[in-house]
Amino acid sequence: MRIQVLAPTPENIALAASALQAGQVLGMPTETVYGLAGDCRNTQALTRIFQTKERPTFDPLIVHVGISAGSVEKLGELDLIDLSQITPLMKTRINLLMQKFWPGPLTLILPKSTSVPDLVTSGLPTVAIRMPSHPVAQALIQASGKSLAAPSANRFGRISPTTAQAVAEELGDRIDYVLEGGPCQIGVESTVVRIDSEGQCWILRHGGAPKEKIEETLQLTAKHVQSSQAHFASPGMLASHYAPKKPLFLLPKSVQNLQEIDLNQIRGILEKFPNASLIGLLVLSGDAHSNGNKLSSLIGKPVIAQTLSQTGSLEEAAHHLFSEMRLLDASAAAFILSEPCPSPQGLGFAIADRLKRASTTIESFNSESCGKH
Ligand code: TXA
Ligand code: MG
Repeated sequence: MRIQVLAPTPENIALAASALQAGQVLGMPTETVYGLAGDCRNTQALTRIFQTKERPTFDPLIVHVGISAGSVEKLGELDLIDLSQITPLMKTRINLLMQKFWPGPLTLILPKSTSVPDLVTSGLPTVAIRMPSHPVAQALIQASGKSLAAPSANRFGRISPTTAQAVAEELGDRIDYVLEGGPCQIGVESTVVRIDSEGQCWILRHGGAPKEKIEETLQLTAKHVQSSQAHFASPGMLASHYAPKKPLFLLPKSVQNLQEIDLNQIRGILEKFPNASLIGLLVLSGDAHSNGNKLSSLIGKPVIAQTLSQTGSLEEAAHHLFSEMRLLDASAAAFILSEPCPSPQGLGFAIADRLKRASTTIESFNSESCGKH
């Protein structure tokens, strides 16, 4: 394998910074997920990001900025955004969000400066910007003197990596370096928000910054882009995303609440896998072992279960979501069943969204005849 996992020593940060200055791309830890970083003004680096991920160029990138860039005015000075397009109300609200959430898991969609390459924004008039809080990401931005375009460091459509090891699994034969930053604290991507010229707040992607805290900060009700329109508001929001290689089906209820009547749907899935000797189970809260045993006795097949949070904490569940999905994907299970995330609050929105995008239904599985996965 080509990739080297670099400990985040000053020497290795300097090595990685020179690689970025030379137009290379590399794996960078952030508090949400690991990113594939490159200089946001270097078109060679940008092209490498899209090629390495096999990502279509209609899907725009997020620019990661340094710790000193935390206001509309500062982003203007960096020539990332067009201040003339920002109304006074927009400016007040954007600055409030930056003060509250930066550095951290909030991405803001802002009118772009003409000097930001179209490859970053997929030709849109806006640019996505966030200030990561991870010290290694900040050290890299500081040492390279660059703002860094960084999508999640997975191959397109696959599960986002939350450890350096997962970056190596995804892109190990395609890039030279990933900096070791430990397991990502938050575990799901940033929340993507746009404040329009009337000051309205649109949530384009649920993520690590909870909707309620955004609403509390701005003293307003955020609007959601309908999923049918999501692709136009935020071109990367494809219905299928974050998917394991194995098919993942959502259960109608938590395992503890499953009854005989709910099993018909699961039997439909089992019939598609007559030779399955092991079934994966993602438990949202509670004990993996007892939930696994309960499902196993209901369906009469061995089950390997992983829990996202023993205590039912949504923060803990988000932190474990992608790594546990990866673990089940690598197991001997023929397919994965997941409990749904019923909590319409806090990080529950992001968890429910990622599970929905990772999942398939028995109807679409039939019509695809395994094509997608
Ligand atoms: O937490 C994160 O945001 C991670 C880490 C690495 O920072 N990055 C990440 O990047 O999730 P990516 O490329 O996987 O997702 C970027 C999202 C996509 O949904 C894309 O559509 C949206 O941001 N986006 C980027 N630029 C946009 C724009 N100008 N308007 C609307 N949406 C935009
Ligand atoms: Mg991604």
